[in-house]
Amino acid sequence: MTVKLFEPITFKSVTLPNRIVMAPMCMFSVEQEDGQVTPFHITHYETRAVGQVGLVMLEATAILPEGRIKTTDLGIWHDTHINGLKTINARIHAHQVKSAIQLAHAGRKARTGSACYAPSQLAASDSEPTPVEMTIADIQKVIDAFKEGAIRAKAADFDIIELHAAHGYLINQFLSPLANKRIDHYGGSRENRYRFLKEIIAAVKTVWQGPIFVRISADEYDAEGNSMDDFIYFSTEMKQQGIDLIDVSTGGIAQHAKIDVFPGYQTKHAEIIKHQANIATGAVGLITEGIQAEEILKNERADLIFIGRALLKNPYWAKEAADQLEYELTAPQQYIRGWQ
Ligand code: FNR
Repeated sequence: MTVKLFEPITFKSVTLPNRIVMAPMCMFSVEQEDGQVTPFHITHYETRAVGQVGLVMLEATAILPEGRIKTTDLGIWHDTHINGLKTINARIHAHQVKSAIQLAHAGRKARTGSACYAPSQLAASDSEPTPVEMTIADIQKVIDAFKEGAIRAKAADFDIIELHAAHGYLINQFLSPLANKRIDHYGGSRENRYRFLKEIIAAVKTVWQGPIFVRISADEYDAEGNSMDDFIYFSTEMKQQGIDLIDVSTGGIAQHAKIDVFPGYQTKHAEIIKHQANIATGAVGLITEGIQAEEILKNERADLIFIGRALLKNPYWAKEAADQLEYELTAPQQYIRGWQ
């Protein structure tokens, strides 16, 4: 019996040793409000590489200081951020594991002590601040900042870039009719709502030749929001632009969304997009068992398995999954070797 969870997979020139991805998870652990990597980040990410996930994806990392969710977010808006990120990558690569960074801007969900920006003057919820509506110059500044972030990601030795277009953050705000009420060519039709992401992808591709993933929220849990048909349209556009994988999450954009959370609750979204848009997908959300991950892969419902909280609880989740699937994991060799 072959075990698909531990089969390598290649995106452009990057081969992941297996299909397990550490999902991006904000650690809010920057100490000086300067976006800089701390010893905690290095240990945290290296530990999951020792634990043999195939790809370690760093948390949402701000491409502009005003795009931070909190002032304790990691940053990539300045060249001084490169060295710290490079250190993390050296520690990940030492274990033959690949690395990715999730480039992000929080838009109206940014809480940095100053104004927040969004496609329209609509707050994320009744209790949150009203954002400033972005001008065309503001939009161009963010597109340029994603590009600059990609240049720095390359200098810091990341293998893969993921663009954060999910969970109600800035790109998601442009995609969604719930947050985007613009009357210029960035709002209105779905073609127009996609334009911001389209221009970000095009800008990043001028400086980055490696694989690009995009995380989307493929269910807005609101009848007025984007439909699955819209997400298939966006994903088809992304495929045409050369995006390598859609990382399929849900939620975060609608204020009163009711989400029924159960094991693998977002896998069906990954499956639909994989088959309807004909693009590789990642499944995420309450996938906690090796056997559950294997079912998703073997039934061709997704191509990668993103693990979040289960990896916070257990950095050696891959070993446990291997044991469950009766797969012999031969790394890290230090843990395999006998005591003599
Ligand atoms: C997250 N999640 C998340 N998602 C994302 O796209 N960027 C991020 O920075 C974060 N940050 C974050 C922090 C923490 C502490 C948690 C628990 C989650 C969501 C995460 O990537 C994942 O999609 C969800 O946690 C669902 O997967 P699990 O945890 O059920 O495997």
